[in-house]
Amino acid sequence: MQDQNKRPRSLTIHDLVQAKQDDRPISMVTAYDWWSGCLVDSAGVDCVLVGDSLAMVIAGKPTTLSATIEQMIYHGEIVSRAVQRAIVFVDLPFPLQHLGIDKAIESAARILQETGCQAIKLEGTSGQRDVIAGIVDAGIPVMAHVGLRPQAVHQLGGYRIQRDRDQLLADATAAASAGACGVVLECVPSEIAAEITAAISIPTIGIGAGPSCDGQVLVLHDLIGLSVERIPRFVRSYANTKETVLDAVTSWRQDVEAKTFPSESETLA
Ligand code: KIV
Repeated sequence: MQDQNKRPRSLTIHDLVQAKQDDRPISMVTAYDWWSGCLVDSAGVDCVLVGDSLAMVIAGKPTTLSATIEQMIYHGEIVSRAVQRAIVFVDLPFPLQHLGIDKAIESAARILQETGCQAIKLEGTSGQRDVIAGIVDAGIPVMAHVGLRPQAVHQLGGYRIQRDRDQLLADATAAASAGACGVVLECVPSEIAAEITAAISIPTIGIGAGPSCDGQVLVLHDLIGLSVERIPRFVRSYANTKETVLDAVTSWRQDVEAKTFPSESETLA
């Protein structure tokens, strides 16, 4: 957690566009709760995403489709309180961006008001251009999410690489022209991601989209090796937290069974 007396200036969405202009890579990572919000913010990341991936990572569901606005608000509020410097994005859960512009604005506004986050992220194609424009017009920053859209997993036929260059370019360009502050490119071939990154003035944040994007996003549990499911090939795990937790809990259980925990000094007088 940040020391209140040395509290650094909070970042804003304008810093993201500036980062692209300055060729400074942007870091974004997920967080769903207090400890992870505090830690990733202390690690100095630019953006924290309360992703609807929480349905899979926290609740063990097979897709993100079950995430509700109430769940996003519950987790978004906790993370927004934990994070002091980074920009907090909260996902607009399925299917709120498809129910008309007014419903989308109302839902995005609810997320902003009830969580204290700075921006929302929404999955969509060029078909959601007017929805993005409406939310932005209401004063709510929007990050678009194109390419592999997990909310459309059944329509897309699985979690697969998206290769339709013209469609991807059209989706990202539509988001930029609608006033989005950035675009997540998920599972897009590196050369198409590079072309999109050069074509639009807002930052691209890649996940499984190669090194040419303006920034990178990962699911924290994958990054720290805590995921219990198989992790995608494009992930680099920087720690093996799952093994650390497993070892610690196993050692503690063994100590309890051997009656070596607690010792006298670990007992309240
Ligand atoms: O929900 C999520 O965590 C995401 C990231 C994987 C980009 O959308």
